Amino acid sequence: MVQKPIYLDNHATTQCDPRVVAAMLPYFSETFGNAASTSHRFGWEAQDAVDQAREQVAALINTDPRNVVFTSGATEASNLAIKGLIQPLLRKSGSPPPNIITNKAEHRATLDPIKKMQRTDAAVTILPVDESGRVTPEQVADVLCDETSLVSIMLANNEIGTINPIVEIAELCRSRNVPLHCDAVQALGRLPIDFEELGADLVSLSAHKVYGPKGIGALIVRRGNRRARPEPLLDGGGHENGLRSGTLPVPSIVGFGAACQIAGDVLQVESDNVSSLRDVLWSRLSSELDGLQVNGHPTEKLPGNLNVSFEGIDGDVLMNSLKEIAVSSGSACTSAEPEPSHVLRAIGRSDQLTRASLRFGIGRFNTPEEIDYAADYVVETVNRLRNST
Ligand SMILES: Cc1ncc(COP(=O)(O)O)c(C=O)c1O
Repeated sequence: MVQKPIYLDNHATTQCDPRVVAAMLPYFSETFGNAASTSHRFGWEAQDAVDQAREQVAALINTDPRNVVFTSGATEASNLAIKGLIQPLLRKSGSPPPNIITNKAEHRATLDPIKKMQRTDAAVTILPVDESGRVTPEQVADVLCDETSLVSIMLANNEIGTINPIVEIAELCRSRNVPLHCDAVQALGRLPIDFEELGADLVSLSAHKVYGPKGIGALIVRRGNRRARPEPLLDGGGHENGLRSGTLPVPSIVGFGAACQIAGDVLQVESDNVSSLRDVLWSRLSSELDGLQVNGHPTEKLPGNLNVSFEGIDGDVLMNSLKEIAVSSGSACTSAEPEPSHVLRAIGRSDQLTRASLRFGIGRFNTPEEIDYAADYVVETVNRLRNST
């Protein structure tokens, strides 16, 4: 028996894995010390738990645990990377304004702080993306200049799953001594990430996309690169190597660590599993319905992602008719007035097709029965709506 609604929105957030919850629980009431209390056992135990979690997060992306700066999530991590690097440069009198390079398909956690820097006089280049949502190293090379102080390109897109060629972009940035920030939120636990091979200097991560708790994430900061060390946004106790003051949320950090440990253990099997469920869903939809367009790259994409536009249908009616599955629509509800997705617009979809798009995000807890049910349900609903117009 399939339980409804079926959760197929694993790019928005993921269910906290019960093993993660179990790992967190003792840190609310039994081991509740402040990790910064150095004079007693309560503090030492909390600090030990934070150290272990830091190692677990670092291990998943093959980096030195000292590079991990815990934040409240990826929004804060990206704000820290962007504002923390650019604001000090804006204050320097007599030098030309710093230049930032990014692209149209980034998450708002990257685009909005960059736009804010633009309003305070940074020069910003927002590159277009190709029809699959990708940015090429050549595009970046064409606009890199002596004033470029930061390049920010995501590893995998949260709407269409497209994976960018970060290794090549990072090589280019390194050859010009320009720091590269990379939002790797959607890739964490879904693709193997090796921080050293990736070559980015600053990487944003979030626990709640990898079956961990909400409200905790990290900025990975490459040690030894002075140009890539952000100025802290918060002043206070100097936690996290001076980069993020504030008492550490030990239970959340423990949960993030446990989530990363589990993700590392199951990554390959889970990726194969969700990508085969995604392929089943797509083969059912594409063989039983016509007028569909897949959004994103045909091969360079996240395993559980399927983003489809439905021709000849009204997007709002489609969304309102799909109560038994939890998916995202092509309208981003980030404001009072839902706006057509800026990512689907960036890859050239019309507003009408953008609104009539669904993002399926398949994850750890989805079953083949759920995918079968969802396929039947979408086919039947789309046919009904098309026949009624
Ligand atoms: C690609 C991407 N970047 C950043 C974020 C923001 O992460 P957080 O919710 O941890 O602030 C999200 C989550 O929606 C995301 O998908």
